[in-house]
Amino acid sequence: MGSIAIVFLVGAASIFAQTTSISKSASITPTTVPTSTQPSAGVNFPPVGSIPRDFSPAGLEKLWSVVGPIDPPPFTTTRVPDLPIPVPSSPPALYPSWFAPAPKDVLPKLKLPKGFKFGVATAAYQVEGAVKNDGKGPTMWDWNSRQPGGVLDGTNGDVVDLHYYLYKEDIARVAALGFNAHSFSISWARIFPFGTADSPVNRVALAHYSDLIDYHIKSGVEPVATLFHWDLPLALQAYYGGFTSPKIVDDFVNFAKTVFKAYNGRVKTWYTFNEPRVYCGQITTYPFVNASFAPGVNASTAPYICAWNLLRAHAGAVKAFREMKIQGEISFKNDDYVGIPWRANSTEDMAAVERHAAFRIGIFSDPAYTTGDWPKIMTDTLPPSYLPRLTAAEKKDIHGSADFFATDPYRTQWIAAPPDGIDACVKNTSHSMWPECHSVVLVDSNAGWAAGLNPDPLSDTWLQATPNFLRESLRQLQKRWPTKKMYISEFGFDEPFEELRTDMFRIVEDVTRTNYYMTYLGEILLAIHEDKIPIAGTFAWAMVDNTEWNSGISAKFGIQHVNYTTLERTYKRSAFALSEFYKAHAQK
Ligand code: NOJ
Repeated sequence: MGSIAIVFLVGAASIFAQTTSISKSASITPTTVPTSTQPSAGVNFPPVGSIPRDFSPAGLEKLWSVVGPIDPPPFTTTRVPDLPIPVPSSPPALYPSWFAPAPKDVLPKLKLPKGFKFGVATAAYQVEGAVKNDGKGPTMWDWNSRQPGGVLDGTNGDVVDLHYYLYKEDIARVAALGFNAHSFSISWARIFPFGTADSPVNRVALAHYSDLIDYHIKSGVEPVATLFHWDLPLALQAYYGGFTSPKIVDDFVNFAKTVFKAYNGRVKTWYTFNEPRVYCGQITTYPFVNASFAPGVNASTAPYICAWNLLRAHAGAVKAFREMKIQGEISFKNDDYVGIPWRANSTEDMAAVERHAAFRIGIFSDPAYTTGDWPKIMTDTLPPSYLPRLTAAEKKDIHGSADFFATDPYRTQWIAAPPDGIDACVKNTSHSMWPECHSVVLVDSNAGWAAGLNPDPLSDTWLQATPNFLRESLRQLQKRWPTKKMYISEFGFDEPFEELRTDMFRIVEDVTRTNYYMTYLGEILLAIHEDKIPIAGTFAWAMVDNTEWNSGISAKFGIQHVNYTTLERTYKRSAFALSEFYKAHAQK
């Protein structure tokens, strides 16, 4: 059924294909932005070094002028919820139990390990809003959302969920359902509006996250913090090209140290970077590719130069974490999956899987967990001008720089070799699939059946609900990058066509997402008990609907609906199902 498969091939030619809806405008699929509306390179972004390092209020305004006017939030004080939060009774069963067990009856004899973190996840840019309040500097996503077609539905993060002022209500609402952890990110541009180590720290922002962390603890919801979830301070892109410059390393380490010191003892689980591979791919997609790179870096080399700088920034932050004797554990969040050979007996497809694993996970996890170096598949393909070789000192710092393995196993798909073979591709830098030299396939090679249920079309280039592949995926991770502790740092589903629903009784009936969570959690129980994978926590993406990068608020991943006029939150069926699952499977 090759002809069917060809239709569904998702090419990996683009360096760093995305795992989020960014893929819609990434080069793995044709961009939906008409070429005529795209500004030419550099037009809308100041050339590197052209903005003076002026750390005054006027200097900050100058940075904001690159973004343009901002929509202010409807209120600017932290709302304090009335407690207890009323939790409506669970929704009635949709199906007979012989067809779909109630959440409490999913593998009822299997329990989650003691101390399991049963959490929800968010990221600063996606939920906070209040982007120009309390002294925050602009980020590259504030800029992106003003570029023509930068966000497909024309929305931005200016107000979005206003979690910045509604965090108490948000935490109380998940605590009321029994969740015991929340993975969120700290906005670098709030703490350092100008980003750099020699620029002033914003004490108001430090106090904000301090309060937020305390409120988590008080509510019985463990705060889990990520330092970088893609919202780069715009200043750093303007001063030196962001992650394409080695200068980022010291600035990131300084930011990390400031935050570690401020919240030491209160945050116990830290991530340096969220899905670094996706981030380093993002910077070469429209409109980021129109911003300035460091001298000598171009759109082809940028993802790898970014990976190199980012890995060294991660290692530097972890070194500081250990030297400062910060309590707790630290790692970074991997994305993607090892993959399954598309044609079971094809040695070429098996080799393609190895390429996928190397380019998507090994790029960061080989250096951090196993060899201390880039995967050989990558150094055999990419010259040092793309992928600078690590020095002995760098390898030493990077190797062992992660205390646990974190993965966002949203989906697992098939992997195929290029039609003309891997060798032909690897040797030919103009090959359309170079340098990854493999494809992701969404349908099987026998009859063209999909790997799993489709999400909303906004996410269908990368996401499918694939619970049946999850255990093998986790086993592959454990085999290749063995760990004593694994977190499912994000998993979740973009409910099909939810953005078109207007009646609340239709919106909250997110049955595809509910089935996704229940089937994944059942497989996670089996992975823990039968495969002995040391999974210590799961984090549902997302706590609330939010802005899904360049799909905007149209792509819905929340287990709670957000009314973007009133900012009211409403639990969906999936929120109740997760709550009921956890209560029945937790061990006190
Ligand atoms: C992973 C990313 O970390 C998150 O920001 C994104 O919204 C989800 N994937 C869904 O695409």
